Order: sequence, then structure tokens, then C-alpha cells
Amino acid sequence: MAHTMVIFGASGDLTSRKLIPALFRLFQRGKLPPNSRIVGVSRSDFNSEAWREQLRISTSGFLGADFDAQAFNAFAEQVHYFSCDINNANDFPPLADFLGKVEGGEKADRVYYVATMPQLYETTIVQLGASGMACDSQAARRIVLEKPFGTNLETARKLNQTLQKVFREDQVYRIDHYLGKETVQNILVLRFANSIFEPIWNRNFIDHIQITVAESVTVGRRADYYDRSGVLRDMFQNHLFQLLMVTAMESPARFTADLVRDEKVKVLRSVRDLVGGDFANCGVRGQYAGYLKENGVAAESPTESFAALKLHIDNWRWKGVPFYLRSGKGLSCRTTQIVVEFKEPPHILFGKGKQAIPQANRLVIQIQPAEGIQLHFQSKVPDAEMKIRQSQLDFRFDGTGNEKYSDAYQRLLLDALLGDASLFARNDEVELAWRIIDPIIAAWRSPAAPELHTYPIGGWGPDESGEWMDSQLRSWFDVCPVISG
Ligand code: BG6
Repeated sequence: MAHTMVIFGASGDLTSRKLIPALFRLFQRGKLPPNSRIVGVSRSDFNSEAWREQLRISTSGFLGADFDAQAFNAFAEQVHYFSCDINNANDFPPLADFLGKVEGGEKADRVYYVATMPQLYETTIVQLGASGMACDSQAARRIVLEKPFGTNLETARKLNQTLQKVFREDQVYRIDHYLGKETVQNILVLRFANSIFEPIWNRNFIDHIQITVAESVTVGRRADYYDRSGVLRDMFQNHLFQLLMVTAMESPARFTADLVRDEKVKVLRSVRDLVGGDFANCGVRGQYAGYLKENGVAAESPTESFAALKLHIDNWRWKGVPFYLRSGKGLSCRTTQIVVEFKEPPHILFGKGKQAIPQANRLVIQIQPAEGIQLHFQSKVPDAEMKIRQSQLDFRFDGTGNEKYSDAYQRLLLDALLGDASLFARNDEVELAWRIIDPIIAAWRSPAAPELHTYPIGGWGPDESGEWMDSQLRSWFDVCPVISG
């Protein structure tokens, strides 16, 4: 079967920075299914030749020395452009004709990738429905939607309702690029393809879990968007919750899209509701020094660029094990890591005084930029009575082979083309995530909100974040990548 990827928002940043380089790399690696075409759609008045030329410039800039001009020429033969105003219903029948011509009358599975401004998502869906382009009686028709999927529960629901009028749920692919990361998928393999981790992956052995997505960058040119969004919408509702779900979910019976997503959804359903005073104590809010001077940020903006949250998952496996989630911009380094901190040994045998209390065993799962896993455990100091010290066992994810594995978009685009939805978010997942985040945002915008602490750029967020952990007799694992990339 032939495949067509139709990209709405062809002249946008995402298309040139992520989608086309990813499709080109897939092509170069021989992974793009044969007979695949890419059709860019936007209002700009290009023709296919002009668009190809523009993509050649942007892709070579993006890939730098890795850019292969000859390979790009071969790739570009499959790239086409159609100028269309999404707001104009009359532009869609000619688009359907154009796609038919590009496909040469063959039956082709189609993926409509909506990479437009979010304000155009619903119109695009409606127009696809009205023009009969969503009908999949002859060949598959799928739709991919970029983040953000709504800005709260209400808008996400509305978007889902619009989608449901035109597409079945199994035709809908909601992107969270964190799920396309190899190291995130590796968490599932670590947990469910080994027999040594699962037996201890529960409240009997684990004290708590920390999920940190730290970024050293500040909001930069995206201040206008970011100030309306803030870290809870920008990072927690999607990326951190995805990491939470894959860390906490039960094993599905089989690795199929719906069974995997059923298990993920159960995690969000089990997140304990916050009530009353919880909103003031469940976390820490911060804003980096200088945020208010960023171009595009509202005067006296209350938007958090840092947040730490404590969530509980009320089920048999996790009862009593807090999950600490934290993310922020302007921090000391870029690192995404999941730290599983185990309970202390029940009986202390070695050492005296303070030395006798061993540091807890930890499993540090490094998602990016370093990719690997580190196990922290105690060992004997050689040549010294029975003194103990902490030692590490390292596993480097990229150190085991020579293959250059794909970036998240390559994996997700390929899955969408081939119809595998396992790594995409389902409607109930997205709505449940908003159901958890919305009340926190509301409480943090109310007069009862906890204080918004200012933090200096280059650290680990406000001091109060560390103090908050101290008060719970725990401490953040504030270490930049423990495994060099
Ligand atoms: C995006 C957020 O979804 O994810 C950005 O909008 C953030 O603010 C980015 O910087 C982080 O992605 P990654 O893959 O670099 O961790």
C-alpha cells in the first residue's frame, strides 16, 4: 500500500525544524515505506519546486555536515506542495483532487498531520470531514495532532468532541514527543522484559520516586506563548505525566496500543485528588529571576517557570509512595531523569555512628541528554575494616551498538504512517491529565496560592523546593547527568 503524509502548516517552524528532517532521515535510512509521498499544505503561495528549495535550505542548515545533497534530491522527488486556506471550505475539494493526482489514482493510506497554530485544529478537522477526506472505506485515513491538546479540560473535551464527529478514535494520533524517545520506551522494556525489577517495583521496597525534567534554557523567543501556558501546562500535563504513567503502570497483557493505553490511563485515574489545603502544600512554585523582563511576558505575571509537585497514586502497588515531579527552565543543566529511591535496609550491620546509615539504593534512569541507567549500591571500602561506601553500576543506552537510533519524531512519524498508535495519547488520557492539572492551576492562581518564589538562573529552582523536600525527610537528586552521553 502507498502512503501519503499531508502536512497542514507546511510553512511553519515545526515542519521545517522537526517533521521534514525526520522524514528525510527515515528516507535516508531506508525506513520510509516505499511509495510514500509528502504533501505540504499551507496558505503561502509556493509551488512544489519552491517549497522543495526552501526545505533543502532549512534541512541542510538543520543537519549541518550530515546533510547529503544527493539523497535530499531523491527525497524531494516525493515532496509536493498545495496552497490552501484552511478557513476556506472551497479549497478542500481541489486539495482532495491534488492528493488523488499525486497518488496517481492508487489507493494510498493517508496521514493528515496537523502542525498548524492550535487555533486552526478544529477548523482543519471540520473541513476534512465536510470534504469527505476522512472517510477510510478504501484506504486508511489517520490524523495526527500536535501539542497542545487544549489548554484545559474544557477545551480538550471540545477538541475531542470535534474529532469524534469526523474520525473514529483509532484514526486519531495525539503526539507527545516524549513517548517517541527511545529511553522512555526502554522504561517499558526495563520493567516488563526483566524479571529482577518488577518484584521490587512497589510500595514494599520503594520509598519514593522523583521525575525531573530540568532545562537550562529560558523561555527565549517563546515568552508570549509560555507566559499564557506556564510549566504545568507546558510540561506537566503532557511530558511529565507520560513519564509518570510509564513508570507506574501495570504490565499490559499484550503490547497493543489499546492495552498499553488502558494501563496508562489507570495510573491517572488512581492519582489522589487534591483538596483544600493540599493545593498549598502539594508543591512549590517558582519563577526565574529576570522572567518578568522577557519580551512578551505580562507585567507582574504570576506564571511559574518552575514547579515541583507531590502526587500519590492510590492503588495496591503504590499506596504510600510519593511521586515527586519537577520541571523548570533556567536550571543548572538539561537533564531528564527518573530516580527510583529504595527503602533503607531494615537492619544496620556495618559501620558506626553516622557512617552506619547507608545511603538508599537508587536506580537513576537517565532519559536525556545522557541515556542510560545507573544503580547506586553499597560496597566495602577496600582495605578498611567493614567500612562501606556508595558505588555505581552504569549502563549506557547508546554504548551497546553502533546503530544511530532515531529521534522521537522519526519514530512517531513512522508509527503514524504504519498505523501503530501505541506511542500516542488517547482521548481519555489527555482529559484525565487536564483533570489533575486544572485544579492545581486554579488554586495556584487564587488568593490562597502558595508563594511564587524567585530563583536564580543556573541552580535547581527555588531554595524552598529543597526545604520542602527536607521537611519530608527526603532530598532531591540534584545531579547533572550521571552518565556521560
Ligand atoms: C516542549 C515544550 O513540549 O518540550 C518546551 O513546549 C520544552 O517548552 C520542550 O522545551 C522540551 O522537549 P525536549 O525533548 O527538549 O525535552
